[in-house]
Formats: sequence, structure tokens, C-alpha cells
Amino acid sequence: MKHFLQLRDLEPAEYEHLFERARVIKDRFKNYVAYQPLVDRMLAMVFEKSSTRTRVSFEAGIHQLGGSSIVLHTGETQLGRGEPIEDVARVISRMVDIVMIRTFEHTIIERFASQSRVPVINGLTNDYHPCQVLADIYTFIEHRGSIAGKSVAWIGDGNNMCNTWIQAAQIFEFKLRIATPSGYGIDAARAATAGRHIEILTDPLKAVEGAHLVNTDVWTSMGFEAQAEARTEAFRGFMVDRRMMSAARPEALFMHCLPAHRGEEVAADVLEGPQSVVWEQAENRLHVQKALMEYLLLGRVEA
Ligand code: CP
Ligand code: NVA
Repeated sequence: MKHFLQLRDLEPAEYEHLFERARVIKDRFKNYVAYQPLVDRMLAMVFEKSSTRTRVSFEAGIHQLGGSSIVLHTGETQLGRGEPIEDVARVISRMVDIVMIRTFEHTIIERFASQSRVPVINGLTNDYHPCQVLADIYTFIEHRGSIAGKSVAWIGDGNNMCNTWIQAAQIFEFKLRIATPSGYGIDAARAATAGRHIEILTDPLKAVEGAHLVNTDVWTSMGFEAQAEARTEAFRGFMVDRRMMSAARPEALFMHCLPAHRGEEVAADVLEGPQSVVWEQAENRLHVQKALMEYLLLGRVEA
């Protein structure tokens, strides 16, 4: 049994398989061809933070594959009244076939997984958002082919998305050029493990120079709302606007995991502009996560 808690939980060959399955599954979906290998399988989703894309893509995805789902929000469950996460894992995983969790500290999902009888998927923690980056890499490949050897810029917060892109750079062999305001960078240990795959800069214009892909995210992630004012101040100059995009390659793509704040981390005309693939990224959450659930529950399906 495998869990998907961080991108590095799977090997490059497994990603190759997942991307091929995502392509097949997406093609069937677009052509109204029913594909229901997960009949009678149940997905439980535990949300300790808000969500639109993750909820809809997992719920629609499991239903389209023939299965069903239960959505739990912390406040409505005994988790909200202090039941230990390990006990919740033991109980839920005796009743369903696969679990997705969105929570705060990454250790919470690790503790859940350690007691789970079924595969656990990370739907976002303070440290990682692997389902999103899975969709993002797939989206890049759809538009531009292999991401190996390419230059990817990360502009803004050294957050869960940035950490996940760092793992992606190591797995998919590209260069990640990270520009964050002082005090909001990635931690030194993480930078050390990424070695030659990342470059840390302070000037966002330098980071986007020659990039094949420019990536950003909100300045204040969920759980950090108390810092919002200080962050708005510190991130001045880090908005991805047309001037910044023009320092990248002319064919560079723009990505954002959404939700976006126009006029803060991204200018409206970049988000809505011809280089932006943000809506495709969001849609691809559905297709890659269907491939992921198929893989975690059934192994390598070739049909
Ligand atoms: N990108 C993403 O995970 O969106 P939601 O917070 O809406 O799920
Ligand atoms: N970094 C953001 C991503 C939201 C999908 C957050 O954690 O809030």
C-alpha cells in the first residue's frame, strides 16, 4: 500500500505511468466514454481548511470512476472536539477504501497515515500540496512537452506550493529559480537537499529571466491570516505583471494554483492573458487525481 503525502513518495517511472493514465482518463472523459473501475470504492475527505478545487475535483473524480465519497469538515466531527488523529485514522480506514486530507501541520497527515489501513492522499498541508503540482507538471507537459532541463521561476512566498515545486525540480530534473522577499524564503535544510536543482534569488526579475514557466501563489496562505498585513508590505514588488512576464521567454507559460488575488501576487492582465494556463491547471486536478486514485487502489492499470 502506498500513500501520497509528498511528491517524493513516488518514483519518476510512477509519474510517467500516472501522466499516461491521466491522458487516457481525460480523453475518455472528454469523449463521454464511461470509465468506472472503482465501483463500490469509497473516498473519505477530511477538510480542516477551506477548498473549492480540491473538493470538487476529488468528489467529481471518484464518482466518475464509479465510486462514492464522504466529506468531513473538522468542526462537524469528533476531530474538532479533540479526538486523536490516530484514532480517527483507525476508524475511518476500516470503513472506506481511500482517504484525502487537507490540514495544517504536515505531521498531522503523517500521523494519520501511520495508522491508516488504506492509502492516504495529501490534499494540502502547511508544507506541501502535491496534487496541485502533479496537475501543474501534467499541464506543462500537455502544452510544451517534457519539463526536464527547463527553467521554472517561483515568485513570492516560500510556502507549501514552493516546497512542492522544489521536490518536483529534483524528480523531473529541471531548474527552479526562487525569488522570495527576505524573511519569507524556504528553510535552509530544504534548500540544501535540493542542491543544483534550485537557485535562490532576491530579485524576481532575475528569477524570471529566460524562464519557460513563471509560477506564483497567494502572499498569505491559509493558516497564516494573522500575518496578512505584514506580508502585503513585505511582498511589494513581487507581483507578476506584464513587465515581469516580458523578462521570461516569449513562449513562457504562467501558472497559479488559485484562488488568485488580482492586483496582489498577479496582475489581472497576466492572469487573464494568453500565457496563462490557470484554468487548464485547475481542470487537470480532476484528471490527474483520477489517475492517482486508480493507481493507489488498483496499481498499474494499462487498459
Ligand atoms: N488550488 C487549490 O487547491 O484550490 P482549493 O483551495 O480551492 O482546493
Ligand atoms: N498556498 C495556498 C494554496 C491554496 C490552494 C494556501 O496554502 O493557502
